[in-house]
Amino acid sequence: MLFFKKNKVRLKDIIPSGYTDIHSHLLPAIDDGAKNIEDTLQLVNSLKSFGFESFITTPHTFSGFYDNTKAGIQQTESETKIALEKNNIHNNFKAASEYLLDDHFISLCKKGEILTLKDNLVLVEMSYLNAPIHLYDLLFEMQVAGYKPVLAHPERYMFYHKKIDEYKKLKNAGCQLQLNLLSTVGYYGNEVMEVANQLLKNNLIDFVGSDVHHQKHIESFSKKIEIKEVENLKSIIINNQFFKP
Ligand SMILES: [Fe+2]
Repeated sequence: MLFFKKNKVRLKDIIPSGYTDIHSHLLPAIDDGAKNIEDTLQLVNSLKSFGFESFITTPHTFSGFYDNTKAGIQQTESETKIALEKNNIHNNFKAASEYLLDDHFISLCKKGEILTLKDNLVLVEMSYLNAPIHLYDLLFEMQVAGYKPVLAHPERYMFYHKKIDEYKKLKNAGCQLQLNLLSTVGYYGNEVMEVANQLLKNNLIDFVGSDVHHQKHIESFSKKIEIKEVENLKSIIINNQFFKP
């Protein structure tokens, strides 16, 4: 049986049919993802070939960099859906957003100007350099406003890498955690991959996402999974069914 253990599996081969993805940058020319509609069509078609059935795509809302609004995202979403249909792509496709956790985001929560993944669940991210000083106030305020955080790619925040307890603290503060699938093939480096493995091992991950922006991400789905917690990963991917429309 040792023989089988040595055989590593490619990331694209563990995507279950009917998979719902909850994190990507597929809307054209709205953030650092798809540059135009041709790009969008190509990325969606590639992901379809891996077994992706439903897409909840999440352009950045990042004050000062990507000043997206609910109405603006919805406008691009409508145009994109028409283009998808015209090109015979009939998958479920909707837009939410990946919000930077900051004061601007809290003001949007208070106004109800938020695009949720489903129900009151909202995809949020932090800077890769440091957590906001008032992180726990922000998490508290968004929840008082009626929203629940799903924190994107916790394994990519280097400032938490040696502090697994910080992840437990985030969960206790109401955060669910979304792992990037590409972290399991080493796309973001060995350290991120090791933390991804640790988070899975400690049962801290709730959902996964592709976080696909461009073709290089697509190509990396053909790489082999390098983490040990593959069985655990497979069961977490199934959790994404919760978001199936
Ligand atoms: Fe993202």
